[in-house]
Amino acid sequence: MSCTVIIGSQWGDEGKAKMVDYFSRDADVVVRYQGGANAGHTVVVNGKKYIFHLVPSGILHENKMCVIGNGLALDPLQLLEELDKLELEGLDVKKRLLISDSVHLILPYHKVLDEAMEELRDNKLGTTHRGIGPCYADKCLRIGVRAGDIFDADSLKERVEFLLKLKNLQLERVFGKKPFAMKEIMDIISLFKERAGKMITNTSDYLHASVKSGKKLLLEGAQGYGLDIDHGTYPFVTSSNPTIGGALLGSGLNSFNVSSVVGIVKAYVTRVGEGPFPTEDTGNDGDRLRVNGKEFGSTTGRPRRCGWFDIELLKHSCLINGFTTLALTKLDVLTGFKKIKVAVRYEHNGKDAGYSQSSLDSVEPVYEELNGWDENLSKVKTYDTLPSQAKDYIRFLEKNIGAKISTVSVGPERENTFLL
Ligand code: GDP
Ligand code: IMO
Ligand code: MG
Repeated sequence: MSCTVIIGSQWGDEGKAKMVDYFSRDADVVVRYQGGANAGHTVVVNGKKYIFHLVPSGILHENKMCVIGNGLALDPLQLLEELDKLELEGLDVKKRLLISDSVHLILPYHKVLDEAMEELRDNKLGTTHRGIGPCYADKCLRIGVRAGDIFDADSLKERVEFLLKLKNLQLERVFGKKPFAMKEIMDIISLFKERAGKMITNTSDYLHASVKSGKKLLLEGAQGYGLDIDHGTYPFVTSSNPTIGGALLGSGLNSFNVSSVVGIVKAYVTRVGEGPFPTEDTGNDGDRLRVNGKEFGSTTGRPRRCGWFDIELLKHSCLINGFTTLALTKLDVLTGFKKIKVAVRYEHNGKDAGYSQSSLDSVEPVYEELNGWDENLSKVKTYDTLPSQAKDYIRFLEKNIGAKISTVSVGPERENTFLL
């Protein structure tokens, strides 16, 4: 039995896709299990950069199957665009991609409503405007359109007619926006059916059959622990569960199928969008991390907020996710800092403060400072050849988090990765 789950341990953009691509070497099937095109997953191979929003990041390995699980919010037009781009690169992905018949579709009104809600709010969330919240809301209201629904023309028509009545009322009367015509929605669904219909299937059956036949599975999460709708910094979260529970729900696998859970940990912390971020550095160091780490959103291009490593955040991420091991990314970005700060605990009004998602905006991080290094790490291939200060940094993190780091990434390419 081998099923590895890759999970973002902080607030997203930890370098999950790079690690999924790396671990895909040993997998037969790569599965995305939640989120949608709010995710921006970057893989760099031989200097060429690919950004995936929906297609699993294992797709560049030619002999691997990829699955879009039931837990996603799937924008059909975005998916077709990604497939077109891959085909232009000469990658025939149609036979290697399966789409769950239970996955919910993002339709144009979801995106307009996402943006309109943000416009209306005083206390903005900073969403990606990809329609994520409205689509998952429809799922919970039991009015969403699922991929499998597109094969029954009559009931689909009835469903979309009802939906448009509801959505257009909301769009026009609440937000003063233009209504959608039936044809516009049905045209998108028809195009999706024509081009991707053959990929739609019961993917949880497929995954269980794969497990039974001894195949190795790799599950790819989007976002990260701090953005989890249940365990993150609500309301400044996404609308799905990037944590371990979401991996099971969003794929249809069960807990006995999982053999390892890898937390992807950036060597510092970033966040994009609003919400508490205790170790954010809004001064020169934060700017330097942003520039050195090229911290600009892969989906929206927004500058990411940057700051120092947060042990409390990681410890709680470990509790919720049960990481069996950690993969540390972007260690190279810390090159050149004389001192590297790590927040080891929080205080509030001068007293020790425990970790609680709801009080993160009022805590003061307490830092320890470690010595930095000047060596460029991009050619480093082993732990032994790291500068001693970088080794000390890794050991300091492991000791304080209380978990083992088993993989280190020192650059965006596959080969900038080594095991400890
Ligand atoms: P994801 O959403 O977690 O998959 O991460 P993103 O792709 O949004 O952002 C991570 C960025 O860091 C991408 O541009 C990656 O190419 C890049 N990256 C990943 N690992 C490393 C690393 O170890 N060093 C450096 N310098 N860049 C990395
Ligand atoms: P990956 O998979 C970082 C953030 C948004 C916003 C909040 C809600 O690339 O790590 P949403 O559009 O989901 O309703 O926005 O969540 N967010 C991400 N931040 N990485 C992501 O994905 C994100 N996906 C959503 O910025 O704060
Ligand atoms: Mg990203």
